[in-house]
This record gives sequence, C-alpha cells and structure tokens, in this order.
Amino acid sequence: MAVEWKPLSYSLGVEVRGVDLSRPVTDEDFATLRRVLIERDGLMLLRGQSGMTREQHIAFSRRFGELDTHDAVPLDRDRTHPEVLLVDNLPRPEGQSYGKMIGHEWHSDLAPSLRPAGLSFLRAIRVPPVGGDTQFANMHAAFEALSPGMQALLRTLSAVFVRGRKGVTPEWEKENRRLNPPVAQPLVRVHPDTGREALYIGESARAFEGMTPSESRPLLDFLIRHATQPRFVYRHRWQSGDLLVWDNRCTIHLALGDYDPTEVRQMERTTVKGHPSGHLVSPEVAELATS
Ligand code: OGA
Ligand code: MN
Repeated sequence: MAVEWKPLSYSLGVEVRGVDLSRPVTDEDFATLRRVLIERDGLMLLRGQSGMTREQHIAFSRRFGELDTHDAVPLDRDRTHPEVLLVDNLPRPEGQSYGKMIGHEWHSDLAPSLRPAGLSFLRAIRVPPVGGDTQFANMHAAFEALSPGMQALLRTLSAVFVRGRKGVTPEWEKENRRLNPPVAQPLVRVHPDTGREALYIGESARAFEGMTPSESRPLLDFLIRHATQPRFVYRHRWQSGDLLVWDNRCTIHLALGDYDPTEVRQMERTTVKGHPSGHLVSPEVAELATS
C-alpha cells in the first residue's frame, strides 16, 4: 500500500493514508511518517486503525522514542500497562472517574514536569455520537507571528506551571502536589529536530518566574489568546479508530468537552518522553504560584 498524505488544516497537521498499524510498518514508511509529522508542525492523523491492539499502539509509539510510564498521573494509567494513559469517562475500579477531566484547558502534555512530553499518541476506541472534539494550536506559527520585540522579551522569561485538576478530592490534590511540584519552563523552546523556536505556554502557567501572578496575568492571558486564534488552530472531530499523534514541543491542545457526559468517550494515550527541561522553583516562588 502506498503511503499518501495531505494537510489536515491550514495551520498544522497531516492526514496519512495507506498505513495499517495492525500490520508491520516498514522502515521506509516509518521514515515517511516521521518526516511529514515534522513538516506539518507536529500533528498527524491516521484514521481507520480500529484493528490495532493496545500492544501495537505501544510498540508503534515506542519506535519514536522512550515511553513515559505516567508516574505523574498514576490514577489515570492502566494497571498492567503503565505506558497507557486512560483518557475516558468510564468509572474507575475504585468508583472514581478522573480520566474525563483530562485536558480541559489549553496545555502541552506533562509541562509541569522536568521531562515534559515529546510526542503523544491518542487512540479513539469509543466516541460519543456528537462532539467530544479536541483543538490543537501551532506554537511555531504563534511565536513567529509575534513582533521581534515581543519575541526577544519572551525569550528571557520562564513560566511556572502548576498541575491542577478541578473536581478531585482534597486527598488526591495533596498527593498530586507531592508528585507534581511547580516547575518553571522556558517560555520559548527550541525544537530539537528542526532548531525552530516555539511558544511553550498553557493555562496551568500561573506566573513568570521572578514576577507575581498578578503582574504575569495580563501577558499570560495575551499569549493564550494570541496563540489560540482560529488561524493557528485545528479542530479534530473524532471517529473511532483514529490515531492522532501530536508533538507537545510545538503544539498545545484542548479537550472541548462538547458532548453528552452520559455517552462513553474512550481513548488511550501513549507518550514519548521529550528532553529534560525546566527546573523546580524555590519554595517562595512555589508558594506565590499556587496561592
Ligand atoms: C490528552 C488530552 C484531550 C482529549 O490525552 O493528553 O489532552 O480531547 N486529551 O481527550
Ligand atoms: Mn493532553
């Protein structure tokens, strides 16, 4: 089967056809996938992959690099396959459901950690009849659209990310804080494969290091608003069997939650580790950022 591809949207993304992930992928086809993913700024869709098993999902993503075992989010990972993050609204065995709250703000995966995600691979198993869409925004394009003066300023800043999940129990919140202390990340990161700069922002960024939250807020808000304008965004309407791959070093994404919560939405994610980035902040900065 010949591999074919076409743009997924104006801003970013590629849709690839002619690859069946339930069968071995040749080195040549794999190289093509890698190349078009980079060329289209870090978003790639492969539809019709319902035949792929969880093991094949893991094995395919592992070809791109070392997999994360999701130690930062233990409640959401699969018990027997720690490489698999359960992104669904099914009740958990303990009777609590957390997965449905994943990604309901603009973010880059694992930004509040010292080893933020490189690539994420999200596989749709069951999707609601309507909605449950996800948006993606191109952070190379968003950075490059800023003025040289603003770009120069942003290169000097780091943003303090705090992992937070609305609606979880106070006990879990405490454990979450222990597992995920606030981390400062450079606001502009250089993509290791291309040398291009990308904005590195998210709605869990609370302040710039060395500034107060209220001093930081206006610029943080501006950057999110700027970077998520329709011209930088692709909106994905899921079909079961979709595998969507994104590069967290040059995109951010948002689960829209635009679906009936009594309908099942079941996805599984694997995550390739990115390079080490950022640093733990001082107790004073952590206190400020989380207050
Ligand atoms: C994720 C995520 C969004 C969604 O899996 O990292 O943010 O729409 N998912 O499920
Ligand atoms: Mn995510």
